Amino acid sequence: MTDALLLEGMTYAEGNFLNENAPHLKVDKKLIKERFDLTGKKVLDFGCGMGGMSLWYANTWDCDVYGLDIDQHHIDIANRLKDKHQTYNVQFERRDVLENPLDEQYDFIFMNDVAEHIPIQILRQIFQQFALSLKPDGVLFVTYPPWKSPYASHVNHVIKLPWVQFLPQPIVRSWIKSKNHSLVGDLESDLVSAYEGLNHLTHKKLMAVANEARLTLSYRKSHAFYNKWSSLKNLQLRFFPFDFLITKEFAAFKM
Ligand SMILES: C[S@@+](CC[C@H](N)C(=O)[O-])C[C@H]1O[C@@H](n2cnc3c(N)ncnc32)[C@H](O)[C@@H]1O
Repeated sequence: MTDALLLEGMTYAEGNFLNENAPHLKVDKKLIKERFDLTGKKVLDFGCGMGGMSLWYANTWDCDVYGLDIDQHHIDIANRLKDKHQTYNVQFERRDVLENPLDEQYDFIFMNDVAEHIPIQILRQIFQQFALSLKPDGVLFVTYPPWKSPYASHVNHVIKLPWVQFLPQPIVRSWIKSKNHSLVGDLESDLVSAYEGLNHLTHKKLMAVANEARLTLSYRKSHAFYNKWSSLKNLQLRFFPFDFLITKEFAAFKM
């Protein structure tokens, strides 16, 4: 990892940690605060990335956080931020749970912007482990941009065209290639590999994975642009064409 990428990663993750209004996490943080009290709880941040949300959990509540990620570069940055902010109720580890399965139980398992990056057959195996790793009243909380979201391509910072993922694939791929640049990850190390790694996640696909693991949906919110206005904040339009306006799905599961 170059120094420039390291700095970019640290700045990004630190912003996610410290800025309550970080654009793509504002709704997540508000919702998590409203719905959950993590005080005294054991929390797994699965796919913690560079640790922004793990550090936020650990600083917002007196809880015990374990952040794991399959990517060593992300974990290195998370550990630097942990040291910088002297946050001792969080532990970060590089771990591939298919090689080294989860062996503890948690009150909360968070998967924040992770599920859409994992091939569905692997996600199914991970959810089977979650079913064994939740305490009896434990909650699995999954957030992700659904595939119809205007930003689901994950490349909108360079290709400023919403829903670009629905253009013919040869066009999308060559466009992304022309804008390609390195990313912090050692696995998803550039924009092209990040786009190719997406599993085109939908609520239906996620429900199939959860049902197979015998996890039950206990809450769902589909956040769309118009929810920003207070008079429309609870409006949930999940049918065509409004489903294309949903920017993020939030789903909680229990055993
Ligand atoms: C978009 S990042 C989100 C990071 C973090 N949750 C956040 O909100 O900032 C997706 C993360 O999922 C991780 N990931 C992908 N597949 C994984 C797997 N099988 N096990 C653990 N982490 C995984 C990636 O390495 C990456 O750090």
